[in-house]
Amino acid sequence: SATRRTDTGAGGCPFNASAERPMAPTGCPVSPRAAAFDPFERPYQLDPAEALRWSREQEPVFYSPRLGYWVVSRYDDIKAIFRDNLTFSPSIALEKITPASAAAQAVLERYDYGMNRTLVNEDEPAHMARRRELLEAFTPEALEAHAPMVRRLVRDKLDAIVDCGRADLVAEMFWEVPLTVALHFLGVPEEDMEQLRRFSVAHTLNTWGRPSPAQQVEVAEGVGKFWQYAGQVLKKMQDQPHGHGWMYDMIAKNRQKPDVVTDNYLHSMMMAIIVAAHETTALATANAFRQLLSRPAVWAELCANPELIPAAAEECLRHSGSVVAWRRIAIRDAEVGGVTIPEGGRILMVTASANHDPAHFENPDELDIYRDNAVDHLTFGYGSHQCMGKNLGRMEMRIFLEEFTRRLPHLELEEQEFTFLPNTSFRGPEALWVRWEPTMNPERRDPAVRSAQRDFPVGAPSRQDIAREMVVAKVQATAEGVLQIALEDPHGGRVPDWSPGSHVDLIVGDYVRKYSLCGELDDPYWLQIAVLREPQGRGGSAWIHEHLEPGQTLRLRGPKNHFRLDESAPHYVLIAGGIGITPIIAMADRLKRLGKSYALHYAGRSRASMAFIERLERDHGEALRLYPKAEGARLDLAGLLAEPHEATLLYACGPERLLTALESSAAHWPDGSLHVEHFSSEGTLFDPATEHAFEVQLTDSELTLSVPPDRTLLQSLRAAGVDVPSDCEEGLCGSCQVEVVEGEVDHRDKVLTAAERAGQDRLMSCCSRAKGKKLVLAL
Ligand code: HEM
Ligand code: FES
Repeated sequence: SATRRTDTGAGGCPFNASAERPMAPTGCPVSPRAAAFDPFERPYQLDPAEALRWSREQEPVFYSPRLGYWVVSRYDDIKAIFRDNLTFSPSIALEKITPASAAAQAVLERYDYGMNRTLVNEDEPAHMARRRELLEAFTPEALEAHAPMVRRLVRDKLDAIVDCGRADLVAEMFWEVPLTVALHFLGVPEEDMEQLRRFSVAHTLNTWGRPSPAQQVEVAEGVGKFWQYAGQVLKKMQDQPHGHGWMYDMIAKNRQKPDVVTDNYLHSMMMAIIVAAHETTALATANAFRQLLSRPAVWAELCANPELIPAAAEECLRHSGSVVAWRRIAIRDAEVGGVTIPEGGRILMVTASANHDPAHFENPDELDIYRDNAVDHLTFGYGSHQCMGKNLGRMEMRIFLEEFTRRLPHLELEEQEFTFLPNTSFRGPEALWVRWEPTMNPERRDPAVRSAQRDFPVGAPSRQDIAREMVVAKVQATAEGVLQIALEDPHGGRVPDWSPGSHVDLIVGDYVRKYSLCGELDDPYWLQIAVLREPQGRGGSAWIHEHLEPGQTLRLRGPKNHFRLDESAPHYVLIAGGIGITPIIAMADRLKRLGKSYALHYAGRSRASMAFIERLERDHGEALRLYPKAEGARLDLAGLLAEPHEATLLYACGPERLLTALESSAAHWPDGSLHVEHFSSEGTLFDPATEHAFEVQLTDSELTLSVPPDRTLLQSLRAAGVDVPSDCEEGLCGSCQVEVVEGEVDHRDKVLTAAERAGQDRLMSCCSRAKGKKLVLAL
């Protein structure tokens, strides 16, 4: 059947060999869908992720006889291939996917075409030796210096059209600005831009396209000319040794270390990098504008809340990246997703499909600018070859978006048919027509709008900036000193989904505070929290109690869940102290709905001070035990937990005191029984005065970094361009977890259990450090 995998492992072939069926090189016939797959046909050209939905769902690794490649479509499988560049060599990354015809070959020879190794298709150890030599130009500080140039280029182009009312943004600026930026970055003198663009198109078709025999010759002419041009420019630059730019870095290295940075490498790189640096970014920008403008509500949100621009650009790179597939070749028989790819097997990793894999991205087909793991996308590749220029590309996309959302917020996408250059890997519309009403340009009323720029730091977007606006719908006292607050979407839309244990970070004035969600789970229009006034607190709760009123707008991050309810146990004990009832009540609601058996123990000062008693008595009466101290009731944790139960899970939230007592009372329970939510980061913070420096070796990116006493591991990773997601940065949430290969960890987080710590196989990079001098991490 079509739904079976082409598994050729020890168990043999699942299909009956038959003469009519196309075969994989393993001798195993391929499924009908795999046989029909052709990336040059319409479905893949229009939407590669959608065209491979069947594969993600049913046959994630298959052989495509039409292409002669093994196609891989799931996130985890593709990431595993990227990680292991010794088994899966990148040497074919720039190979012609359609072999040259004899006539085309003759043309290329006439031009002495000799494109060979660059960085992206070089094996180890040569690749890392070069990459390390050339990293300096990509540090955040070095890239920051290019921002004013990018800004100026975008602004000049926008000035030229701002009063026109209609434009094809691709033709007006999306390709020319990234090309100019690329040339500046490389130090290449600005040349005939139109000609360079034609060269790039020829190179893309030559490498990733399926040109017809007649086109082949034409394309070969373009590629040959491009090769010659690259050689001439290189020669000119070599004669001017004092120039600045990345190409000059390479020229200098070529003089110092000719065996590491070779002559052919310089020439090949010159040609490849012009394309790598500009076409990728031009197409990514066009894709992003297309996606955002086709959702006017999202575009309006971005105009109103430009802090979201870095997150939105990243989400567009995930949802509609400009590089949709990348290649590797298996240098030995190797298993991917349960399928053995034989030695010499060519692999097409469809990263666009990985980016729509529901096993990694919630609602993957939705463009969600609040998504907090968009940065995990594979559009930049991953591992030791991951795009070196990613932060320059990000910077350009952000500046384009920032200028347009500010100066032309009333921009609209015109109805149009989009066309794409037919190829497997680079994707973006060839034209993007937009229109707007120039009389409504905000700068006509207020000229300051033209230059009121907002800058973003270089690097991956920060989750801290992914905040949404909400409006206070209701404020109500629910117990002594406790306010229950309902929040709604400012436009009356649905609120985001959440699960029991979720919280939001509320941003009010200068305060950011975490509050668990405690409303009805399936209420589509309200998010509810309960806020205890804490006189000893840092002022956030007092502010809320004194100032918050219905109709007010505030911002929040989340919902996010660091306190997830494992729904697989037959029995639960829920324990809440005081305002810690908020996540627990949502858990109780859920367990009741699931028909699980549970007990709920709720301790507090007095009935009057304990929130939700009525609702609890109504909905959870039989499971509920109340312990109001004022009535002499006391929650005896030691007694309650005396007898450990295999099949029982414990969930608790409350003051640190209660949680500490609970941890010791449950010490004899099976590991993993107790789940608590900490709201304080006490103990996780570091003190530069007493820390020691250590070294970290990264196995995927093949880098070694040193972490000084005054920097966290996470900060050091970021400074080296390694994107690690993070959220709380206080050791509470678990999002910055990294796999440890070797070395002893000084754990500072509140996420890992004792057994997980003892395993020494993971750490939270925002707070934990090395016990000794060195750690080896799988990054
Ligand atoms: C490599 C995508 C912008 C320079 C790559 C790879 C991809 C990629 C998929 C291969 C990664 C791998 O094998 O793991 C993109 C996208 C961009 C972009 C989507 C824009 C949105 C740039 C820019 C530059 C650049 C602006 C240069 C200034 C490079 C280099 C490599 C590379 C030098 C080779 C790295 C190596 O193999 O060590 N890029 N790129 N890229 N990119 Fe980019
Ligand atoms: Fe939350 Fe590190 S970012 S634990």
